Amino acid sequence: MDTVLSGIRPTGFLHLGNYFGALQNFTRMQFDNNCFFFIADYHSLTTHPHPADLHENIKNVLIDYLAAGIDPEKSTIYVQSDVPQVCELTTLLSMNVYVGELQRVASFKEKVRRQPDNVNAGLLNYPVLMAADILIHRADKVPVGKDQEQHLELTRDFAQRFNRIYETEYFKLPVAYNFGKQLVKIPGLDGSTKMSKSDNEASCIYLSDDPAVIRKKVMKAVSDSGPTEPNQPKPQAIENLFTLMQAVSAPETLAFFEEQYNKCQIRYGDMKKQLAEDIVQFTAPIYEKIKELRSNDDYIAKVARMGAEKARASADKTIKDVREIIGIKHF
Ligand code: TRP
Repeated sequence: MDTVLSGIRPTGFLHLGNYFGALQNFTRMQFDNNCFFFIADYHSLTTHPHPADLHENIKNVLIDYLAAGIDPEKSTIYVQSDVPQVCELTTLLSMNVYVGELQRVASFKEKVRRQPDNVNAGLLNYPVLMAADILIHRADKVPVGKDQEQHLELTRDFAQRFNRIYETEYFKLPVAYNFGKQLVKIPGLDGSTKMSKSDNEASCIYLSDDPAVIRKKVMKAVSDSGPTEPNQPKPQAIENLFTLMQAVSAPETLAFFEEQYNKCQIRYGDMKKQLAEDIVQFTAPIYEKIKELRSNDDYIAKVARMGAEKARASADKTIKDVREIIGIKHF
């Protein structure tokens, strides 16, 4: 069985794009993999969140994951800072990582451009910390989006370098977990091709949105005037509504509106009303579960403790091995 590791920074609620892009697949891969899901709170500190928000953000991500179907008995779900071995491995790996190679990382250069007043050392070291997250469990596979591919490549470089320097084959070289065809890219409600919180808050439907909020957001979604000739290609914003409908609605519903569109008889108000109801229905079980979990602090605490214990056991084994390989000995 492969070990799969996935990490997410706690920066807000999860939305439909996160669900179809990743979460839904995560719930499936639990059955035939040894899965670790963790909340990367150290990584989130690179952008200096307010102390009062940090814990709340972590809790919300944990709740969204559980509500979406991550099973804490099957998988290991934990908070990064509950596993201090990650910090030790970061330190050990960093001795063989060159400042120059970190300065050339695309995400670092992007941060320098975006937040020139806060180019902290944590940002530079971000890929080393991420490599430690992955290597600490000797993961085989890591589901990553395009923006994280370079980080995964660096993880392989660091692992390979360690193996070469210490003449060992200890670290496996992790590869991207590819969902291939199962990946559904959810567009935004603002006419953009991707639902994204950082681009536009209003483009997102959160799993924790209540039905009234969902209806309001969908009715406000960007649309267009209808086609004037039959079988016209769709403008992006309209294509987006159809893509959303394809994700959540019955095939007959989608077919009906396709036909209306092609006959130039489509009424976007009607389409949005239907789409809103179908999204409400689709997200209802997750939404109900989120409400239930939010009022059950004891259960959340229990899940976090259980995950921390399992993750620490796995991490501890790796750290012991690595110390021995490096030559660190106890007196
Ligand atoms: N850098 C990842 C992101 O921003 C989060 C992350 C941290 C991660 N450590 C990881 C993802 C390890 C996968 C594996 O999305």
